[in-house]
Formats: sequence, C-alpha cells, structure tokens
Amino acid sequence: MNILQTANSKLPTANSKLPTRILVTGGAGFIGSNFILHMMDKYPDYEIVNLDKLTYAGNLANLKEVENNPKYRFVAGDICDEKTVREAMEGCDFVAHFAAESHVDRSITGPAIFVKTNVIGTQVLLDVARDLKIKRFHHVSTDEVFGALPLDRPEVKFDELTPYSPRSPYSASKASSDHLVRAYFETYGLPITISNCTNNYGPFHFPEKVIPLFIINAFRDLPLPIYGAGKAVRDYLFVTDHCLAIDLILHKGKVGETYCVGGDSEKNGLDVADTILKIMDKPQSLKTFVEDRKGHDMRYAIDHAKITNELGWKPTVSFEEGMIKTINWYRHNEPWWQAIISKEYLDTNRAKANGQQSAVSSQQ
Ligand code: NAD
Ligand code: TYD
Repeated sequence: MNILQTANSKLPTANSKLPTRILVTGGAGFIGSNFILHMMDKYPDYEIVNLDKLTYAGNLANLKEVENNPKYRFVAGDICDEKTVREAMEGCDFVAHFAAESHVDRSITGPAIFVKTNVIGTQVLLDVARDLKIKRFHHVSTDEVFGALPLDRPEVKFDELTPYSPRSPYSASKASSDHLVRAYFETYGLPITISNCTNNYGPFHFPEKVIPLFIINAFRDLPLPIYGAGKAVRDYLFVTDHCLAIDLILHKGKVGETYCVGGDSEKNGLDVADTILKIMDKPQSLKTFVEDRKGHDMRYAIDHAKITNELGWKPTVSFEEGMIKTINWYRHNEPWWQAIISKEYLDTNRAKANGQQSAVSSQQ
C-alpha cells in the first residue's frame, strides 16, 4: 500500500533552502492531527507531509481544514514499509513521530501489532532518518513507560531520571521504541529528542479512550463504564498544550534530550465521570462499575520542571476549562463521532488503508 497523492507532489526539496518541511507520522490520529493543525496555523510557510496507515484510529476528517492547502501532502502508508517511508521522508528537515498503536486495552487482547508498529515501525523510520540525514527526529512517547506510581505517595512523580518499568504491552512497546531512538543517538549520532507526555484529551479524540467515551455515552444516555473502583489516577493535559510542547522541543530542544510533559491535573476515574456528568447535566446513575483492567496502572503523574525551566513550557489550559472545551467540541461535532460509531466508518477506513483510491478522493 502506498498512495502518494499527486496534487501536492511538486513540493520543493529541503536543499532548495525553502521553508522547513516536516514529516508527521500518524498525522490522521488524535494528537498528530491536532499537531498538524497547530503547525500549519502557526507556521504558514512550513510544509507538512503526513504519513499515516489509516488504521481504525486514523481519520482524514480531522484534517479537512488543511486538506487543500498546497503546503500539505498526505501519504497513505505503513511506517513499517521502508520504501514508503523513504518516499515520504525524502526532502524533509524534521520528523515528528506520532504513529503508533495507542490503546492499552487493545494491547492486552492483541499485543503483536503493538510490537510491529511501535517497535519495528520506529526502527524503520530511524534507519531512513539516518540515511537521509534528517536534522531532527522527534519521538512522541508516553509517561506509561515509567510504570505505575503509588496512590498513597502523591508527592512522588515521574521525571526524566525515572527508570523505565513498563507494565502493559502498550507501554512495553513504547519503552522499546524510546530505547531504540536513544540508541540511534548514542550509536550513530542521529539528532533526536524524545517527549514523554501524560494522558491527552480534546478535539478529535477517538472514542475508545476514557474521556471521549464517557462524553459520547453521556450524550446518548448510556452507562459510563468505570474500571474497578474508579481509583486509578491519570495526569490529564489538554491536547493543544502537548502540541505547543512538541513545537518548542522541535525548535529549541537540545539534541539527545528527553522532556517530560505533564498536565498538573491528576484525576481518577470517578473524578472524570463526575466532571462530565456535572458539565453535561446528566444523572449520577449513568456511572457503572465494571471489571477492572488486567494489570491496571494505578497512577501516572509527571514532574515537568525540566521543560518548564529550560524551554519555558507549562500547561495553559486547566482541567475544568479543557473539559468544557472538549464537551462543547463533541456537542458541535456530532457527525464526526456518529460516523465513527457507525460500521460504515470502519469499512471506509479499511478501504482507504487498503489503497482504494475512490475512498481517499476527498484528500486529492
Ligand atoms: P491515535 O491512536 O489516535 O493515532 C495513531 C495514528 O497512527 C493513527 O492515525 C493511525 O492510523 C496511525 N498509525 C497506526 N499504525 C500505523 C502504521 N503502522 N503506519 C502509519 N501510521 C500508523 O494515537 P494518539 O493518541 O494520537 O497518540 C499519538 C502518539 O502519542 C502515540 O505515539 C502515543 O503513544 C503518544 N502519546 C499519546 C498520549 C495520549 O494520551 N493519547 C499521551 C502520550 C503520548
Ligand atoms: P485510557 O483513556 O484508556 O488511557 P490509559 O489507560 O492509556 O491511561 O484510560 C484512562 C483511565 O480510565 C485508566 O485508569 C482506565 C480508565 N478507564 C475506565 O475507567 N473506563 C473505560 O472505559 C476506559 C477506556 C478507561
């Protein structure tokens, strides 16, 4: 599979001293699409190449705003496929690597694709980046690589010096990819940076993760399935703050460094459900306790002092403000999520991922 879209294929190469060109992998997913919209708005001269396989989680509808922008090019393809990666990366200055299998529950029922995409896919990208002498390879990773924190010691948080201790197939695959990225810096001098971020939420979030799932279920008066006793804590960050952090690291981060990015917003499952029900004015009776996740990590939290002190980044959107924005976004974009929860979405996405040209015509 490899659909190099022809409309924007005449982008000049990086050598012509023209504007920066960035390869974004996984740009049709939740954070990747927010990042593309952020970058194209803030840096209108930059060119963006979006390489995405369009798995169930990739959605070109997220990028409607930029699909006809001559500075944007979409490439449908797999990061595990060296030829496709090379074609997409040729002429790029930077790589911002988001593509991944990203849902813990799916990694518990089917770990193999997590190893393939997250580990092998990253290695393929690194090899090509090295060969093409990419100026910066930024790897987007997660705080989940550090394992789980105790609930009874709120003063303890993860930071850049925390040893890796992943506990789910998802976090183990992301940890492996982080190690490979750092190994390419140490061994070959590839100019890399890594960010390990806490749980994001906001527009275009696929409704399998807790916040969009609870919002959509509340809209439909369906139960909000709370795992176990709802005590597991996550440190939530509004997605645009994550995009700003990656933007800063790409431009000002020190090569070879890791930056921990966090939201200063620790909430457990009950807090998340209560906040959503309150904002949406829905009954408490929608809260439903279900069987706990296997090996459920009980707490994640990030100390972001390094990126704050060195690059001046800090979260700008509070949890309360971010949740209102997010709920409003889902309220005003019902066709977006209705399409996803319909079977048709999955069929169309499968067709696009298989390279059926008719299905991607809206992006040509
Ligand atoms: P997502 O699941 O919404 O999107 C992933 C994207 O990658 C999709 O568009 C999908 O089609 C694409 N993709 C998957 N496999 C691919 C392959 N083999 N080749 C090309 N494209 C492929 O994920 P997200 O939530 O946007 O996360 C993006 C990145 O950020 C991931 O690396 C994730 O580990 C990391 N991260 C996520 C969070 C979070 O809270 N969501 C927090 C920290 C870090
Ligand atoms: P999730 O959004 O899947 O992100 P992650 O596991 O990567 O942190 O889950 C966030 C928290 O919400 C986690 O503690 C599990 C919990 N959760 C539920 O209680 N119910 C759900 O339906 C889901 C998907 C998650």
